Order: sequence, then structure tokens, then C-alpha cells
Amino acid sequence: MKGYFVTGTDTGVGKTLASACLVAALRVTDDVCYWKPVQTGIEEDDDTRMVKALAHSPDEEIYFEGIRLERPLSPHLSARLAGVRISIEEILATASRAPKDRLMIVEGAGGVLVPLNEREMMIDLIRDLNLQAIVVARSGLGTINHSLLTLEALRLRGIDVAGVLMNGEPNEENRKAVESYGKVRVIAEIPRFERLSPDIVVRWAERNIRDI
Ligand SMILES: Nc1ncnc2c1ncn2[C@@H]1O[C@H](COP(=O)(O)OP(=O)(O)OP(=O)(O)O)[C@@H](O)[C@H]1O
Ligand SMILES: [Mg+2]
Repeated sequence: MKGYFVTGTDTGVGKTLASACLVAALRVTDDVCYWKPVQTGIEEDDDTRMVKALAHSPDEEIYFEGIRLERPLSPHLSARLAGVRISIEEILATASRAPKDRLMIVEGAGGVLVPLNEREMMIDLIRDLNLQAIVVARSGLGTINHSLLTLEALRLRGIDVAGVLMNGEPNEENRKAVESYGKVRVIAEIPRFERLSPDIVVRWAERNIRDI
């Protein structure tokens, strides 16, 4: 599989919005495809549906397969409560059936050290999929620490980081700090959209996400 793994400094930091932006920006030059391998809380939170809507994606741009769990909890716990066990082996098997000719935008669940089962974590999946990571981080106070911790964990496991996407009211000092202490490029700063309409999101992404 080729493409990027969209991870984040936390849950709710904007990985799904960032993924929709990446789909919209990268489709200008490549055939892209979004994939959410593990989704918990599927009834209230369906990131696949959200990306499809926000990026205006036709079915070919979405890989619909994956583990879908009801309870809105960490994957290891949501799985346990459903009486199943998630394994990276199973996710890799699903990955092997994904479209091969497309640039995949794979969205994690939560952050990098989220457990999938009693032993494996999201970060192990990123490494095993052999994808470059894109880290989504909040723009505001607290982001320097969370971003640097996430970058350190990724690099410790030999995972290449393509860049950081900062989300929320742009904060120049925080962007500069993440770039210099984290030795990483901030690809773009996603503003807070008053209304998350597909047209606005797609237009913003085409203009602002370049040269990843
Ligand atoms: N820049 C933004 N402008 C407006 N709304 C935003 C923005 N970023 C995030 N949101 C909203 O905040 C919520 C959380 O964002 P999002 O779902 O993208 O986070 P996530 O990191 O994908 O979370 P999860 O860990 O559940 O996958 C969503 O309702 C989203 O629409
Ligand atoms: Mg999400």
C-alpha cells in the first residue's frame, strides 16, 4: 500500500477533517482513496461517511472495509465489550485487498499509543503498513508538548513523518515551535471553518495543501 497514515495528538483533533482535506488536495494529481481501518462508536461517529461528504468523494475514492464497533471507546475496549479481538494481522489482510493503484489516505483512531488489543497499538499498525505518517495537531496551547511527544514516538519506531497539519485558529508561535523543536514541516494550518461545507473545505484544501 502507498500513501499516508493520518494520525493525531489526540482524539477529536481533526483527523477526519484533515483526511478530507488531503483527499481533496491530492486528487488533483493522484488517484486517491480514503480508508478507516478501525472505527469505534460507529453509530454516532462515521468518519468514512464524513470524509465522503466533506471531500465530495465518489465511491472509488473510499475503501469501505474495516472493523466497525459500536461503543465509542478505545479500540481494545470497544472490541472487548463486543466480544471480539482486533489484530494487526487481520487489518493487514484487509489492507492487502485495498485498491493497489491508489494513493491511500488511512485514518487512525485516537492517537499513536491507542491500544488495539492487549499487546498491539495503533503505532504498530502504522509501522506495519509501512506508510509515512501525517500528524494532526491542535493549533492552541498544549500542542507543542503533544506534537513533540507524538513525533518522538513515531521516530522511535522508525516511522517517517511527512509533516504536521495544525488545526484551529492559526498560532504562528506554536507552528514555529513545532517545526523547529520537532524538526518537521507544518504542511498547512487548517482554519476553524464556521460551516463545514464540502465546497468550502475542498476549495481551501486545493489552495493550501501543496507539495507533501
Ligand atoms: N477546523 C475545523 N473547523 C470546524 N470544525 C472542526 C474543525 N476541526 C474539527 N472540527 C470538528 O470537530 C470535531 C472533531 O473533529 P474530527 O472528527 O475531524 O476529529 P478526529 O481527530 O477525526 O476524531 P476521532 O479520533 O474521533 O477520529 C468534528 O465535529 C469536526 O467536524
Ligand atoms: Mg476521525
